[in-house]
Amino acid sequence: MKQFILAFILLIGFLPLLVKANNTLGKNLYQSRCAMCHGDDGRGDGPLAKKSNPPATDFTSLVFQKRLADYPGVIVASLVLGPNQKLILGTLQKNHVVLPKHVWTDAELRAVNYYILSLIAKHNKQTQKPTTYQ
Ligand code: HEC
Repeated sequence: MKQFILAFILLIGFLPLLVKANNTLGKNLYQSRCAMCHGDDGRGDGPLAKKSNPPATDFTSLVFQKRLADYPGVIVASLVLGPNQKLILGTLQKNHVVLPKHVWTDAELRAVNYYILSLIAKHNKQTQKPTTYQ
């Protein structure tokens, strides 16, 4: 029993570190594979944002936050189902940006989802708007 309690306390103690590591993974993936369009802060202002029609989504916009409230899986779905894949690949190609092929793991999908949510939460905090999708 003592060992159990000890293991539990250790787990709780290390949890923030695990979450932080996860966030670093999400941040790295986001910055290398999404930010050129969606912008470093998710505001839809990356260098390629306006090179496509429609332009890259501003994740911090009320429209997108509403979409997220209605469809919480939209970020992961956009990567797994790739409804905009043709448009995105075309935009990258036209602008000579080469992204290495990537097969997403569950942990990576979770991490990038979490990272984008954290960008939105940060934006809402800065602009003192409530976060409505959680
Ligand atoms: C070449 C530019 C480009 C890159 C790179 C890119 N996107 Fe997008 N993304 C777009 C555009 C353009 C749209 C809007 C498409 C539309 O409205 O039909 C979009 C839309 C989205 C949406 C909204 C989907 C919806 O149904 O509302 C999500 C979520 C998204 N992207 C996530 C990502 C993530 C995560 C990455 C990185 C792994 C990424 N995108 C990389 C251009 C890009």
